[in-house]
Amino acid sequence: MVDPQVFRDVLAQWPSGVTVVTTLAADGSRIGMTASSFSSVSATPALVSICLDRKLYTHDQIAQAGCFGINVLAKDQIEVGRRFAGMVKDCPDRFAGEEWSTAETGVALLDSALGWLDCRVVHQYDGGDHTIFVGEVLAANAARRSAPLLYHARGWGQFADVLPEVATLADGGAVQALRERGEDPASIAAVVAALADAGIRVRVLDLTDAGSGPDAQDTQAALAAVPGDVDLATTTARVGDRLQAEQALGLGIGTVEVVADLGTDPDAALARALATIEGVEDRAAVTLLDPFDPARAESVIAAVVALADRGVREVCLPDTDGRATALEVRALLSEVTRLARPTSLRMALHDRDRLGLVKALTALKSGVTHFDTTLGGLDGAVASEDLVRLLETLDVTTPADPHTLSGLAQQLRGESTSGLLGPEPVADRPELAPGTSTPDTVGAAG
Ligand SMILES: Cc1cc2nc3c(=O)[nH]c(=O)nc-3n(C[C@H](O)[C@H](O)[C@H](O)COP(=O)(O)O)c2cc1C
Repeated sequence: MVDPQVFRDVLAQWPSGVTVVTTLAADGSRIGMTASSFSSVSATPALVSICLDRKLYTHDQIAQAGCFGINVLAKDQIEVGRRFAGMVKDCPDRFAGEEWSTAETGVALLDSALGWLDCRVVHQYDGGDHTIFVGEVLAANAARRSAPLLYHARGWGQFADVLPEVATLADGGAVQALRERGEDPASIAAVVAALADAGIRVRVLDLTDAGSGPDAQDTQAALAAVPGDVDLATTTARVGDRLQAEQALGLGIGTVEVVADLGTDPDAALARALATIEGVEDRAAVTLLDPFDPARAESVIAAVVALADRGVREVCLPDTDGRATALEVRALLSEVTRLARPTSLRMALHDRDRLGLVKALTALKSGVTHFDTTLGGLDGAVASEDLVRLLETLDVTTPADPHTLSGLAQQLRGESTSGLLGPEPVADRPELAPGTSTPDTVGAAG
């Protein structure tokens, strides 16, 4: 015969989720207990099972009432799990302190559960000192999306943060920063080509400051100046309206980016962004401004869901001016990464107070695998080469080549006198004359 202690020890190694099973007493009052023996049984018809100790009060009540509710607990509901397992002393009412609804069968359903099932007992099998109740599911609701509460080795837990295997980088700032430094168009185009070769997607155009409409001269000039020797499919352009989106995509640019500021009127801002990319959602990225501001959390979550529903390729969440704390990054991302699927989430990293990489790690552990950085950290963003080094140490693969990036960044800092930016150190190059108006573009056509 198997040693009972060893048997229990082996079972303790089996991890499970945690539910609260509810039913009704003969007088109609509600009853509940914690149970991890919940299991799916059949899809058609929808059947589930629970396995309850015959000595338990709840066991007898379920047998009599002929119905039970299953409430799947979330990671932040250990106290509920403990209370319904009889682990809290002096607890006259296990149901107190939570919001409950009543199912069609009359059993209690926990409003804050990840999901619930309302079941009618259709089979009851003898299982040694336990009874296996099989319930037909009459109603179901996946009420809340969050991580589940787990039970393993006689302790409560939750999923550990797992680092992804692959992460990608995009550069949204180098072109603009180089332009502001007065680099000549050919050098900027060379940097773009080198970044693209190194596996980094580059924003080559920002049309949002250019005038709008088919006759807007700035837009025309910007579009005309996009370099011909770069594979445009790997580049992006920020656009301000529908026409600009069409023009950029018409040029062969892979992705258009639009910005939505959900600050004052979130619905209107989202509607504007969606109108701009209507019909080209699969080639569009929407940036939500200041998304980690806790006051915006609700509208950001709603926007991510709406954008994912519309099939938008990517949602970008920038750490605007580096204002977000790692905790705020964590709080939002742990909610939205699941909701966004299959849309990609991209976080634009700022390096204020040199905390950019900390937030990058936080985002990685929350399931974000796409990042916006800038070569050399030129515009206050996290330096692309720094993020690639971090990813290397974490064993996260990235298509970005670290050696190419470091070399490029060195040249940008003027530490190397040869290479893509030409023979002179960059720092010695003259600035563009103040007031010179050139569109935000890689002006390397000529
Ligand atoms: C995580 C966890 C899971 C449990 N799962 C079950 C289970 O599946 N079946 C069971 O009979 N008891 C299970 N229990 C024990 C019951 O929750 C516990 O005995 C409870 O007090 C029974 O309530 P009652 O006495 O009011 O019926 C579990 C306890 C914990 C902590």
